[in-house]
Amino acid sequence: MIDNESIESLKNSIDIVDVVGSFIELKKAGANYKANCPFHGEKTASFVVSPSKQIYHCFGCGAGGDSVKFVMEIEKLSYVEAIEKLASMFNFSLRYTKGSGDFGESKRVLESIQKWYVKNLDSNEAARKYLQNRGISSSSIESFEIGYVSSSQEVMHFLQSQLFPLPKAEEAGIIARGEKGEYYARLVERITFPIYSANGAIIGFGGRTMGSHPAKYINSPQTRLFNKSRILYGYHKAKESIYAHKKLIVCEGYLDVIMLHQAGFKEAVATMGTALTPEHLPLLRKGDPKIILAYDGDKAGVAAALKAAQMLSISGFDGGVVLFPDGQDPADMVARGKSEALAKLFREAKPMIPFVIEMIAQGYNLSEPREKEAAFMAIKGFLSSLSQIMQDAYMPIASTVLGLAPSFFAKGAAISRVRETVTRHKEDIAQLSILKTLLEKPFLIDDVLNVIDAGMFGQYQSMFEMLVREETGHPQLVRLSIDDTLQVLDEEELKANLCNFLIKQYDNILKSIANDNSIHFDTKSYIIRKIKADIIPRLKKGELVAYESFSAI
Ligand code: UTP
Ligand code: MN
Repeated sequence: MIDNESIESLKNSIDIVDVVGSFIELKKAGANYKANCPFHGEKTASFVVSPSKQIYHCFGCGAGGDSVKFVMEIEKLSYVEAIEKLASMFNFSLRYTKGSGDFGESKRVLESIQKWYVKNLDSNEAARKYLQNRGISSSSIESFEIGYVSSSQEVMHFLQSQLFPLPKAEEAGIIARGEKGEYYARLVERITFPIYSANGAIIGFGGRTMGSHPAKYINSPQTRLFNKSRILYGYHKAKESIYAHKKLIVCEGYLDVIMLHQAGFKEAVATMGTALTPEHLPLLRKGDPKIILAYDGDKAGVAAALKAAQMLSISGFDGGVVLFPDGQDPADMVARGKSEALAKLFREAKPMIPFVIEMIAQGYNLSEPREKEAAFMAIKGFLSSLSQIMQDAYMPIASTVLGLAPSFFAKGAAISRVRETVTRHKEDIAQLSILKTLLEKPFLIDDVLNVIDAGMFGQYQSMFEMLVREETGHPQLVRLSIDDTLQVLDEEELKANLCNFLIKQYDNILKSIANDNSIHFDTKSYIIRKIKADIIPRLKKGELVAYESFSAI
């Protein structure tokens, strides 16, 4: 068990603004902070955090409590788990009463194995040579605590010599179990990079092969401590510079971060093989920096940059995009002594909003009127999700890119924004929640396809179709993914939502059939009976009955 005094001192050392602020974006409002409530869908901020009282309260849904309660609610954790999560977020060492299983121990595994990895590097000539060849200086090696891990056997031996319980090492993501239940080290014969949380607590590792192993990098598995889609590698080292220079560089890899820091670009951080997600936004917002996206110039890199630039500009960030040509990356450029050229690239970064506009336009053949129209709609969709001032500022660029008169553009965008806010009724919200859920949980798409028909989504049909085609970078879907007023449903809620959705469809069919004189009386009464006595009652009981349109009749 965690020692009570230790819990008290943890509670006293953390600030609710930091705690809540690391999950959602807070805005200062007088002595307090405000946000859209994360516990219920809303458009106006009624969620308040009070630093003086160290509590949060939502005037909309009544949710409220202290830091621990907040973490319990938002992460769906027990009290003890929330305490452990907070301790890890703020690098606080909890004390445990003797003999109990605890989370602190897996953290001790990480800390101690990290020191061991570093020691291993000293004695491994080949690994040191590898790092040298990549241009990494010894002070970078030291400062980023780069290490080396050899065989699985040696890892197991080390853990046992330190008397670490193996399940704790498994919880820490260091070892895993094979088919026969035997433990093995997840990282073997690799250069190791420790990964720290924004607050400087070690939470995992990345490991690079020096040879031709098919997995170039292996990272710690997703654990309670380690959530790849919220973490930015290098953030704890970059933090000071980010705040001081109000600038942040997002690149793609561990080595890019290390080499950029080595060349003096100390604001560099990286995602770890994943896209930039809305979960990264609270961290990116801290210190209010301009964001530079430094991505590979290949097809995947450009697509990732477009998606990130859309998300960031829609979320009100300022910044630009740098795409590296010819398969180069920042690490290569620094290693080849091209730091000056790199500085120039950063200085001349393409501003984010024009970048998005041009990239969308490039996806269409503008000499074809139909395609031009589609490009216009896509760009208009993107612009209308920006603030009015930004729309006004960038419409001229959009119209130039498409070769259209500005007036034509201005009218269209303004109208679409008004229409969007006016027409979001309960039904729209229900449908959009289904779409947002599928966006975040694409493995559910097949199940949904089995029971509904794309046409049922009405005005949202094209969004549903894009989801099915995995075109998740489209502005409409990006906007949906960052719309905090819509909830992501769990599987039960999704099912209930789909049942309601289907019931509405059948109600509509009943209405239209009743007025349709072209259908034979017998057929009509058969359909009505089938819908009223069979399908709707089953749906009302929560059974997902696959949709039949009855249109063939
Ligand atoms: P890259 O393939 O661009 O590698 O992956 P890199 O960073 O340039 O690495 P070097 O220069 O070849 O050593 C970018 C990032 O994606 C993640 C890693 O975080 C990597 O830094 N990644 C890549 C993986 O997690 N697994 C992989 O197999 C490859
Ligand atoms: Mn590289």
